Amino acid sequence: MKTSSRRKFLKKAGLVSAGLFSTNELLSNTHQKVHILQRKYQSENLETIRYGLIGAGGMGLSNIRNALRHNNTQLTAVCDLYEGRLKAIKRDFGSSVFLTKKHEELLNRDDVDIVIIATSDHWHMQIGIDALKAGKHVYCEKPVVHSIKEGNKLIDVWNKSGKKFMVGSQGMSSPGNEKAKELLAKGAIGELNYAEAIYARSSSSGAWQYRIPKDGNQSTVDWERYISNTTKRAFDPLRFFRWRNYVDYGTGMSGDLFVHLFTSLHFVVDSLGPDSISSLGGLRYWKDGREVPDVMLGIFNYPDTQQHPGFNLSLYCNFVDPTTENNILRLVGSKGAMDVGWETVRLKQHKGVVESITPEERKKMKLMGYSTPRKKMLPPKESLFKVDNDYKGVLYDHHGALIYAIKTDSQVVQDPIFGFRAAAPALLCNESYHSKKMIQWDPKNLKVL
Ligand SMILES: NC(=O)c1ccc[n+]([C@@H]2O[C@H](COP(=O)([O-])OP(=O)(O)OC[C@H]3O[C@@H](n4cnc5c(N)ncnc54)[C@H](O)[C@@H]3O)[C@@H](O)[C@H]2O)c1
Repeated sequence: MKTSSRRKFLKKAGLVSAGLFSTNELLSNTHQKVHILQRKYQSENLETIRYGLIGAGGMGLSNIRNALRHNNTQLTAVCDLYEGRLKAIKRDFGSSVFLTKKHEELLNRDDVDIVIIATSDHWHMQIGIDALKAGKHVYCEKPVVHSIKEGNKLIDVWNKSGKKFMVGSQGMSSPGNEKAKELLAKGAIGELNYAEAIYARSSSSGAWQYRIPKDGNQSTVDWERYISNTTKRAFDPLRFFRWRNYVDYGTGMSGDLFVHLFTSLHFVVDSLGPDSISSLGGLRYWKDGREVPDVMLGIFNYPDTQQHPGFNLSLYCNFVDPTTENNILRLVGSKGAMDVGWETVRLKQHKGVVESITPEERKKMKLMGYSTPRKKMLPPKESLFKVDNDYKGVLYDHHGALIYAIKTDSQVVQDPIFGFRAAAPALLCNESYHSKKMIQWDPKNLKVL
């Protein structure tokens, strides 16, 4: 079957539609319709699921709070390398939670079913592998790995484990992504030819200049363990508390932020990934000793496949830009475009030109020398899809999706293979930025060419 006819067959068969939402049309006027997206199911949790959290910083706490909003869930153990984090757990979750600085001690426990990994990026693969080998299900933050060479190692262990492993790019479980996937499959914007997205920030915390706690020193931080899998150095609180700025621990703008956009794009478009990756950037403003750029551009080629036509992607991230609208993935097709957020989708469909004209206009046109009526431009037809007021949030949904996969022994929406396919082009952006070369990637076989 030719590529384009196979795509049409898939659309007709409805095989690429997510279908988790019902849509109510709320209001319509000439050019805009507003639709409300409503979840059709809630997670049903009969047996208690016990969580162990490794990495109890900002995202670790957001994750566990959202996981615990599901019925019959419990936090039993927490591991972090900084005492301040462990004290905060005891204060907020009670003294019955087991606390440790050694992740192996948490993994050895029988009262942990799911491990949430929310450490700095350089520990994801090792703790992920250790958790699977200890017989735990895993929710691991994005990017699933810190370097390309780690991807296949993790996938091999996961394949043998029989355990669920969800990567934490929560946009994947979002109503916005699911609706966009359905609209694209139905041909709402025609044939996709281009996608773009932006992350723009300007605050110091947005640019990763976090506050260093007063008691953040070698007696409260297990620094030796922190650097035990990377370059040996003397204790440096900046490298521990502002880890995103250093290549040994973080993955820069692309690994931290572009990865979310790859996840959403690959889910919506049903893509394995780009085959060419190119990136430029520079450190323009936040010159605080960091090793990563604060302005970054990425350009990507997605080849024609059975699932989607060939298209290009452009990503932009700027930590010195207080003006640009943020975090929206824009898909452009031959018949229209979609702005895809996690909780909204704005669809614009071209109406093109029409020949309607009043008799007065016709007379005027004739006097102006037109033999046929001049054509009129009409605004595109616009539809806005947004979540219901009582929507519980995308992080709640993503944890619910893992619980659902465990309860029903079904596939998770974002396993290590999907997660690596989203992480790899982001990590290769860094390689392209440093080498000043375009990188060729084989997204099917997960190999740099
Ligand atoms: N999905 C999202 O929207 C999202 C948002 C923010 C961060 N993240 C991801 O979450 C992860 C954590 O980011 P953060 O902003 O919470 O960072 P953070 O610095 O606030 O927290 C990280 C915590 O991990 C701990 N840690 C580091 N190595 C450890 C180890 N070996 N064992 C135990 N604890 C260890 C640190 O002590 C720290 O408390 C990162 O991978 C980041 O990319 C995801």
